[in-house]
Amino acid sequence: LQNFKISGPLSGKKLIVSAGPTYEAIDPVRFIGNHSSGKMGYAIAEEALKNGAEVILVSGPVHIKPPIGVQLIKVTSAVEMYDAVHSYIGDMDIAVMSAAVADYRPSAPADEKIKKKGDSIQFEMVPNPDILKSIGLNKKPNQFIVGFALETENELENAKSKLIKKNLDLIVLNSLKDKGAGFGGDTNQVKLIEPNNKVTSIQLKSKQEIAADIISKIIELID
Ligand code: CTP
Ligand code: CA
Repeated sequence: LQNFKISGPLSGKKLIVSAGPTYEAIDPVRFIGNHSSGKMGYAIAEEALKNGAEVILVSGPVHIKPPIGVQLIKVTSAVEMYDAVHSYIGDMDIAVMSAAVADYRPSAPADEKIKKKGDSIQFEMVPNPDILKSIGLNKKPNQFIVGFALETENELENAKSKLIKKNLDLIVLNSLKDKGAGFGGDTNQVKLIEPNNKVTSIQLKSKQEIAADIISKIIELID
C-alpha cells in the first residue's frame, strides 16, 4: 500500500501544505498558541493525494492523524515551520498555506521555568516571518501559491489585499462570523478569491468537501 500511487489530475505534481497552529515558547513548559485544529489543512493534503499529487504536510501540534501516503514534517514554532517550508519549496509545484501561524513570538524565551512573583508579568514579543508572503514574493514562474485569510471585518476587501500583497494565485477567505465556520468544527464556509477578482462562494459543508472544492479550483486554474 505504501508505494501505491494514485493517478489523477495532479499526477506528477508536488504539493506542500502547512497546517495547524504554531506554539511560541515562553519558557520550557509554557507557550502562546491558538485554537487551530489542523482539520482543514489535513483534509486538503488528503484530497491532493486522492488526485494524484505527491504531498508534503508541514504541521504544527495537532491531535489528528495524517492521511496515509503524505510525508509528514512535524514542527512546533513559526520559525521551525518557516525553515521546513523553505527547505522544500524549491521543488514544489503547488503550496497551500493553511496553518494558523502566530504573528509574534516572545523575544527571549526563559531557559528555566518562570517562577510566580509580583502582581503582573510582561513579555516582549517580536514578529515572526510571514511564510506565505516569503514564498509568494519568491514564487517561481510555474508555482501556484494558495493562502488563507481569517477575517472578522471587511472580509472580502482584506482578503483581496492579502492576495495582492503576498503575490498569491488563490486565497481562501474564512469568515469567523459565519455560523459553523472556523476553528475546531467539522464544517466550514468559505469564499475562493482569484487574482482577477472572481469570487466562488462555497456554502456550509464538511471541511473534507471544502478541501475537495479547493483542490478542484486549483486543478481548474493550473491547466
Ligand atoms: N501566514 C504565514 N506566516 C505567518 C502568518 C500568516 O504563512 N507568519 C499565512 C497563513 O497560513 C495564511 C495567511 O498567511 O495562509 C494569512 O494569515 P492571516 O493571519 O489571515 O493574515 P496575516 O497576513 O497574518 O494578517 P493579519 O493576521 O494581520 O490579518
Ligand atoms: Ca495573522
